[in-house]
Amino acid sequence: MLRSLEAFTGSLEAFTGSLEALHPLAPDRYFPTTMTLLRDYSNQARTYDETRAASPSVLGPLREALAGAPGRRLVDIGGGTGNYARALRDEGWDPVVVDREPGMLAHAAGKGLDTVVGDAQRLPLAGASFDAAMLVSMLHHVEDPAAALAEAQRVLRPGGHLALMVFTREDTEESWLSDYFPSTRAWMLETHSTRDELLAMLPGARRIDVVYRDLVDGSLAALQAFPEKIVDPAWHRQTSYFERLQRDHPDELQAGLARLRDDVEAGSAPRRPGLASVYAWVKPSG
Ligand SMILES: C[S@@+](CC[C@H](N)C(=O)[O-])C[C@H]1O[C@@H](n2cnc3c(N)ncnc32)[C@H](O)[C@@H]1O
Repeated sequence: MLRSLEAFTGSLEAFTGSLEALHPLAPDRYFPTTMTLLRDYSNQARTYDETRAASPSVLGPLREALAGAPGRRLVDIGGGTGNYARALRDEGWDPVVVDREPGMLAHAAGKGLDTVVGDAQRLPLAGASFDAAMLVSMLHHVEDPAAALAEAQRVLRPGGHLALMVFTREDTEESWLSDYFPSTRAWMLETHSTRDELLAMLPGARRIDVVYRDLVDGSLAALQAFPEKIVDPAWHRQTSYFERLQRDHPDELQAGLARLRDDVEAGSAPRRPGLASVYAWVKPSG
């Protein structure tokens, strides 16, 4: 069920007029461009859940970041089809999933989750109304990551916990994929914040390592330990990286896949799990 925006906001009009005032940092300082990895998720919505669910490799650090929140009310920002919200609901959380792509949210609603269509950079939610907030695998799609993080902080009540699961630039630099798909190197750098940038946006946050040890969430990072899956369209199409490559550089995609397929058959393909980071941040009380 798509809940009406009104039920959540009450104050959307007042809020959108004062977005600037909510920014504790000037976003331009950190993000001079508005490049995102994949703006339109409607295509992903059709097949996302075929290979992507809530990975234990991610859930562990998320639980660690959320432990100690003052209550159970949780907002999953950019929550997509609701896989992580559902997993945490099953552990006693009371989540609502927010996403700007209605097609993704329809799947979340099908899992019995409350959903709200909304942009992470202008959340249609009242301030100080949640005990916890999480953003999982979504910040690299946001035009203004600082605005999204400021918004997540705004909707938390004092003492509320924020869990940000993100691929930092340092994490993505470890990837071997750009050896096969060289044009991706530039936009992967441009769309992923550095650890220093993230810490500037979440002062005092603690960083927790994520190492993918399973393929439950077949994200790009998880797939890197399974190159034979990467060459299979049924697996790689559920990643924004390959959708964008298909859109922008179809010839490079085909050439890279052919080379990787040869290496898989020869037993010489790289096989190294991707890395990610969870940032744990607590809203100061008072
Ligand atoms: C890779 S999916 C991750 C979905 C979910 N968090 C998960 O891990 O299963 C990225 C999601 O972020 C959403 N998204 C991207 N930019 C957004 C924005 N500015 N506001 C809200 N949602 C956004 C996309 O629509 C998509 O559903």
